[in-house]
Amino acid sequence: MHKDYWVELIWSDKYKEIKKGERKKYERIYVPLQKVETINKPRVIGEQLTLDLKGTSHTPEYPENYPKDWKNILIWGDNKLAMTALLKGDPDLGIPPMAGKINLIYIDPPFFTGADFSFKVKIDNSEIEKEPTLIEEKAYRDTWKGGIATYLDYMYERLVLMRELLAENGSIYVHLDWHVGHYVKVMMDEIFGYENFRNEIVWVYSGATSPGMRVLARRHDCILWYTKSDDYIFEPDRIRQEFSEASKRMEGRKKIFHHGREEVVIALPEKGKFPEDWIYIPTGVAMIHERVGFDTQKPEALLKRIILASSNPGDIVADFFCGSGTTLAVAEKLGRRWIGCDLSKYAIQVTRKRLLDIHNSKDLTNDDEKRKYGKHSRPFEIYNVGSYELERFKKEPEKYIKFILKLYSAKPLENFSYIHGIKDKRAVHVGFVDSPVTMEEVKKVLEECKKNNFNAVDILGFDFSYEVNEMAKVLGKRKNIDVALIQIPSFNEIKSILATTDIDILKIPDEIVDEKTLEQIKFHEVNYVDLGIKINGREVEIEIKKFIVVPTPELAEISDKIKDSRELIDYWAIDWDYKEDTFHNTWQSFRTKKKPKVEYKAKSTDAKPIGYYKDPGHYKIAVKIIDVFGNELTKIIEVDIK
Ligand SMILES: C[S@@+](CC[C@H](N)C(=O)[O-])C[C@H]1O[C@@H](n2cnc3c(N)ncnc32)[C@H](O)[C@@H]1O
Repeated sequence: MHKDYWVELIWSDKYKEIKKGERKKYERIYVPLQKVETINKPRVIGEQLTLDLKGTSHTPEYPENYPKDWKNILIWGDNKLAMTALLKGDPDLGIPPMAGKINLIYIDPPFFTGADFSFKVKIDNSEIEKEPTLIEEKAYRDTWKGGIATYLDYMYERLVLMRELLAENGSIYVHLDWHVGHYVKVMMDEIFGYENFRNEIVWVYSGATSPGMRVLARRHDCILWYTKSDDYIFEPDRIRQEFSEASKRMEGRKKIFHHGREEVVIALPEKGKFPEDWIYIPTGVAMIHERVGFDTQKPEALLKRIILASSNPGDIVADFFCGSGTTLAVAEKLGRRWIGCDLSKYAIQVTRKRLLDIHNSKDLTNDDEKRKYGKHSRPFEIYNVGSYELERFKKEPEKYIKFILKLYSAKPLENFSYIHGIKDKRAVHVGFVDSPVTMEEVKKVLEECKKNNFNAVDILGFDFSYEVNEMAKVLGKRKNIDVALIQIPSFNEIKSILATTDIDILKIPDEIVDEKTLEQIKFHEVNYVDLGIKINGREVEIEIKKFIVVPTPELAEISDKIKDSRELIDYWAIDWDYKEDTFHNTWQSFRTKKKPKVEYKAKSTDAKPIGYYKDPGHYKIAVKIIDVFGNELTKIIEVDIK
C-alpha cells in the first residue's frame, strides 16, 4: 500500500503514545519446553519398529513427504510461550527451530476468556459439571477488564508469532464470529498484509431458536484466510462440491449467452462444483459420533476442507488453541504432521484421549458415516511449557517457600530446618522446587515434628518419589503423626486458574488475589492407588486394586453414586521399561463414550513394541493414572525378572 494512504486499527495500549506512532514493545520470554510423555513410540531410538497395540499389529504409515523421525507435538501451556519456544527450537528435544516451517495454521481463539474452565464428565448416569470457581471468574474479569482493546493486544502478539512460524507457502485460518471478527480482519491486514487476504469463509450451521428473540438468529461464523505470500498452496479439486439440484436439472440444456450468438450445451464438470466461500455443516445430532465432551468443539468436516485445500500430505499443520484437538485429529487422519497447544489441562487430556482412540473415529476419506479410520496415531509427544517463575525460584528458594505458603494460606515459621509453616495447627513442609520429595526428606520432617510436638504435618510437593507414596503415612503412624501428602499445583495450572495469560505469577499474591480468593486455590491431597503385581515367568500383570480419590467439592456432589472409585479413573498408562527419563506410554486404557470404565488389569504381553522382558534383569515400571478431574498420579514399581 502507498505509504501516504495507510489505514489501521488503533486500540488503547497499542502505542506508547498514540501521536508519536511508536509501537509498544512486546516482551518475548523464552521458557524451555519439558517433555512429559511419549506416545506410540518405542524407546529404541533410530529404529523403525512395529507397534503392537493391544494385539492389533500397527505399523505407522507415512506419506511420501513425511519424515519418519518426526514426532507430533502437543503442548500444555500458554501458546505465547509455546510459540516462542518453537521459534527457537530445542535440539536436545529433537525440535528444530520452527520459524518459517509451518504450512498451515488454524485457530479458533476464545472470545474474551482464557482457558476453558468448565467441564462435564459422565459417571454411570450422572454428569459432573465443574463450574468456574470464584477465582476463575475473578481471573476472567481481571484479564479482560480492558474489553476489546485487551483482547486485541492479546491476539496481536500471538498473530505476529504465528506469522513468523508460517512457511512461505503457508496459510492461516482464524475462526471468529460477530464479536470481534471485523476488528481482527483489520488487525490481520496490518500483520499479514491486505494483499495477502484470500477470503472470508462463512460456516453456516443450524440450531433451535427461542421465542421473543429481538435479532435475526445468528447462524454463521466467519473464518479469515490469509497467506504468507502470493505463492501459496491451494488445491480446490480436493474439495469440490456437489452441484445443486437446480444446476443438475440444467445439464444438457442449450443456452445462448448474452454476449454471443453461440448456443452452448450446459455441461457440469464431473469433478463437481468449484468450492465456494461458504459452507453449511450441521452441528448437533450430525456431530454426535465425533463429540468428545467439549463445548466449543468444531466439526471435523470443517477442518477437513481447510486442511485438504491448504496443505499437502507430510506438511505441518498447527492449532495453538486446540481445545478438544479437532485440527490435530483431522491432520493425523489426512497424513499431515501436527502441532497443538492449549492452556487448559482438561483440553490436553481430551485431546490425548481423542488421538489415542483415533482408530475408532470416522474415516475422512469416505462418505460412509459408519466407516472407521482404523489406524492408530503416529507417535506424538506431550510437552509442558516450563515456567520462568520456576527458573527464578530455583535461584531463590526462600522466596519460593514463602510464595507457596502464601498460596496454601499457611503462616510462615522461622527457626526450623524442615518445618516451613503452620496451617490449622498442622506443620507445613514445602518440598523443593520442581523435584520429587524423597523419603530422606520425609524422615527429617517427621523427626523435627516429633521434637517440637507437632502431631500433624502437611508435606507439599510437586512430585513424590515412589517410596514416599507408600511409606510416608506408615512412618507417620509409627511416630503418631498424621501425615498428608499435598500436591502443589503446577505453575501452568496456577497460572491458568489465576491469571489466564500474561500476568506475572510472582505478583499474584500481593497485587491481585486477596485472602478470600486465595483460599480457593486447590492443593489436592495426592490420590492413592493400590496396585497388585503378578510375575509369571517373563510376563508381568498389573492390576489396579484400589484407587482412592481425595475428597473435593465436585466429588462430593456425586460420591453417593459411585460404587467403585476406580470408575473415577479417566486414563491410565504404563511404561513397562521406565528409564527415569520421559514416560513412554506403551500400554494404556481410557474411558470413552462407549466404554465409560477403564480396564483394571494390564499385561506386559499386551504391549510389546520391543518384546518386554526378553532378558532377565531388574526393571522399573512407571504407572501413570489421571482421574476425571485431571489429577495425575505416577507410581514406580521395581520388578526382578528371572
Ligand atoms: C474455542 S476453544 C477451541 C475449540 C477447538 N477448535 C475444538 O474444535 O475443540 C479455545 C481454546 O483455546 C484455549 N486457550 C485460551 N487461551 C489460550 C492461550 N493463551 N494459550 C493456549 N490455549 C488457550 C482454551 O483453553 C480453549 O480450549
